[in-house]
Amino acid sequence: MVAHIKTVTFLGTEAIAVDVQVQISAGMPAFTIVGLPDKAVAESRERVRAALGAVGLALPPKRITVNLAPGDLPKEGSHFDLPIALGLMAAADIIPIDYISRFIAIGELSLDGSIARVGGSLPTAIFANSHNLSLICPEKCGSEAAWAGDDFEILAPSNLISLINHIKGDQVLVRPVAQAHKPDMKTPDLQDIRGQENAKRALEITAAGGHNMLMVGPPGSGKSMLAARLSGILPVLQTSEMLETSIIASVAGILRDGQLSDARPFRAPHHSASMAALIGGGIKPRPGEISLAHRGVLFLDELPEFGPRVLDSLRQPLETGEVLVSRANYHVNYPAKFQLIAAMNPCKCGMAGQVGHVCKRGAKCADDYQARLSGPLLDRIDIHIHVPAVSPQDLSLPVSKETSKHVAKRVALARQIQTSRFSDFGLDILTNSEIPPQHIDKIVALDAKTKNLLFRASEKLNLSARAYHRVMRLSRTIADIDCEENVNTGHIAEALNYRNLSERKARVA
Ligand SMILES: Nc1ncnc2c1ncn2[C@@H]1O[C@H](COP(=O)(O)OP(=O)(O)O)[C@@H](O)[C@H]1O
Ligand SMILES: [Mg+2]
Repeated sequence: MVAHIKTVTFLGTEAIAVDVQVQISAGMPAFTIVGLPDKAVAESRERVRAALGAVGLALPPKRITVNLAPGDLPKEGSHFDLPIALGLMAAADIIPIDYISRFIAIGELSLDGSIARVGGSLPTAIFANSHNLSLICPEKCGSEAAWAGDDFEILAPSNLISLINHIKGDQVLVRPVAQAHKPDMKTPDLQDIRGQENAKRALEITAAGGHNMLMVGPPGSGKSMLAARLSGILPVLQTSEMLETSIIASVAGILRDGQLSDARPFRAPHHSASMAALIGGGIKPRPGEISLAHRGVLFLDELPEFGPRVLDSLRQPLETGEVLVSRANYHVNYPAKFQLIAAMNPCKCGMAGQVGHVCKRGAKCADDYQARLSGPLLDRIDIHIHVPAVSPQDLSLPVSKETSKHVAKRVALARQIQTSRFSDFGLDILTNSEIPPQHIDKIVALDAKTKNLLFRASEKLNLSARAYHRVMRLSRTIADIDCEENVNTGHIAEALNYRNLSERKARVA
């Protein structure tokens, strides 16, 4: 007799069904797992044996074969423990075979029989719900799984005993409820920043249209402070966005306490980050920082200090909003629609361009440092701003009346204008930065005078086709912040002004 129970394996963020087949047959005592298991799955044998032992169920001294089908799909992770244990119990007639065949199960077993949390419960629950199956997941992942829907069965036991008791009808497991994470830490306020009005305006535009931004300025001018305040002015995630970001976080195993949060992701990896950490992949495929920042912000502080190959690997995802990681034995797709916010000093010593400062290494100091960034990467950054040093006089200015809340209100309004426009055009996008090239002329309609200004400026600045389109998208956002129906010369001029620095740097590179 073969017992079947379903589980999943992950390809990117997608859950793929795996059929766990368990057979107990006569023969020399053995316990074999086949079906391309990785090391964590192979070790499952020991955990399952010990966990069953802990609840008083010794494995029969027979030949036990576990097959994970389809056999050509690599299986990795420790979440196969629970389905294997359930399959074994069914094959040994401890629980009914028919009962478990309608379930998808995931969970890692501890040696004492408790069921530990695993990554990927949310996409597994969504998969189970869409295939009319029920779910068994660890108790700690229950609230995460409950987000997949109200109308399908979820069992979230904390240990094997309570699961067996539920199956036998001796105890009832209560269905978990979906829980949202309440942010406990107050995000810092824009009010804390004295002066830097230009930078604050640029930050607002960035937030409103989802544009990429690079801040260049001497150390201590407030670049990191500004970036840290972006979260406070960005609108919260819509429900569909929240599910997208949570699925990625769930697969990466970083969803806090199984609670979903509507705060936009803000990822700030250190400049020593490897390519695999930033882009995703590695020996075991995992979403990288750019995917964890999906629908949110990727902040790269001290941009030129990142490895040049690491930085250039951002070019493709910045354009397409997803990343395809290919390795010898797998290729997976992760969503990566992130907003890049970067900060850097103008040169190695950090002071180039400051009045009265001459770098020891002369002009080479700034040129060499800025040349670490490739032109194509800079071409993808819509807003380049200079963040000058703040004077002691500026620092003693009275606190600005405008708080993050005020700015967030304007940003939210600009986003509303964008989404209603996109739905008029039948487009499934949320911000101006995502307008597809074929729709730009329709969405950012320019009158003759404005067009003329853009033409002349693009020739003078030698703008690439990409830069040209990016200026148009940015000008649309600036007009939306000002609640203007049409993009005028002022909006185009401001957008071009943010690009200026980039074209100069691209030439240096
Ligand atoms: N505009 C500003 N207003 C108030 N404090 C500032 C400002 N700029 C810098 N500071 C002070 O300097 C510190 C360093 O700022 P930071 O943002 O880390 O600089 P940067 O990233 O540009 O090197 C801050 O913690 C703050 O105390
Ligand atoms: Mg800094």
